[in-house]
Amino acid sequence: MTDDPTLLAPSDQAPATATATGEPLLVAEQLTKHFPIMGGFPFRRQVGAVQAVDGIDLTVHAGESFGLVGESGCGKSTTGRLLTRLLEPTGGTISYRGRDITRAGRKELAPIRSEIQMIFQDPYSSLNPRQTVGTIIGGPMEINNVNPPGGREKRVRELLEIVGLNPEHYNRFPHEFSGGQRQRIGVARALGLEPRLIVADEPVSALDVSIQAQVINLLQELQRELGIAFLFIAHDLAVVRHFSQRLAVMYLGRIVEVGDRQSIYQRPRHPYTHALLSAVPEAVVPEDSEAESGRIRLTGDVPSPIDPPSGCRFRTRCWKAQEKCAVELPPLVQLPGNDSGHLTACHFPEAAPAGETASPAASA
Ligand SMILES: Nc1ncnc2c1ncn2[C@@H]1O[C@H](COP(=O)(O)OP(=O)(O)OP(=O)(O)O)[C@@H](O)[C@H]1O
Ligand code: SF4
Ligand SMILES: [Mg+2]
Repeated sequence: MTDDPTLLAPSDQAPATATATGEPLLVAEQLTKHFPIMGGFPFRRQVGAVQAVDGIDLTVHAGESFGLVGESGCGKSTTGRLLTRLLEPTGGTISYRGRDITRAGRKELAPIRSEIQMIFQDPYSSLNPRQTVGTIIGGPMEINNVNPPGGREKRVRELLEIVGLNPEHYNRFPHEFSGGQRQRIGVARALGLEPRLIVADEPVSALDVSIQAQVINLLQELQRELGIAFLFIAHDLAVVRHFSQRLAVMYLGRIVEVGDRQSIYQRPRHPYTHALLSAVPEAVVPEDSEAESGRIRLTGDVPSPIDPPSGCRFRTRCWKAQEKCAVELPPLVQLPGNDSGHLTACHFPEAAPAGETASPAASA
């Protein structure tokens, strides 16, 4: 990445000093997406629904990196697409900088479309193979009426430099680049619109392991230096550990635990978070865990989101499940012994490590 600070300061970028304590930027409340399943003959009608996202609350603050983690199919991409308004929610609300955008139409969304950008998992299919790099990065600027000082071509060349590519490669096509370089092109395209928030949906999982760290480092530098907020989607905790100050753990369409990185990694209270942390080789698993050993191997498949378990959705795989778990949905609340903002949805949570001072339980 470039050392020239002027290249990193587009005109009305969010302030570089913004941190996790910044203003709420994007707020989702009870956000829900149920995909209808159609069937029947001769009259097609709805016979069921895939409960991909089922009533989640989350807030991304200006300038922070927020991680969203969970196994395949738990609803991460659907959440990302709902938040960027690429999908219509079935229920709940989304507000952006204090404005309700849940049902905002094309026209209303136009001014903020460029402020919320998405980086996709697959750097191969997300770039048009017939367009040059200059068009791929400059095109969205034109559509969104972004007019950088000195012109778009100059800005595209600057952006190439910012993401660690050669500005001379302006006229090249995507196939002339490696996977990691293509993902950098995707990042430059998003940056061209001077976003305040980037939703990065597993941006490195399609890349070679050796390249993953380089792309993550680039994103981390951009987040810090440009003050861009990130919603970073990943299926394991290892990637998010180095990137996100706060994170939420999703299971089968719901958030089961959310909090500051340190609090979640050192004091996971939800059995599922604990199990995910066990799978992270370098993770610290609490010594006085109620699990038999420090390491927990998750067994069984994730149930279908078409017919999820009653009560706690994790109960079919949870080693602590009791009757209450089948009948009562555990609310996402702050448990005694946890930091404020660390919320857990479990009737029988893991013990807080010894020596922790209890803080009063509060509802989310
Ligand atoms: N357009 C759709 N129509 C019907 N079902 C869908 C649609 N998109 C996603 N789903 C279903 O919704 C659930 C959540 O999918 P989603 O892609 O959000 O999960 P994910 O956490 O991103 O998974 P992965 O880690 O594999 O990317 C899955 O069961 C998926 O099959
Ligand atoms: S509520 Fe019950 S089933 Fe769900 S995670 Fe907690 S102990 Fe396990
Ligand atoms: Mg996904």
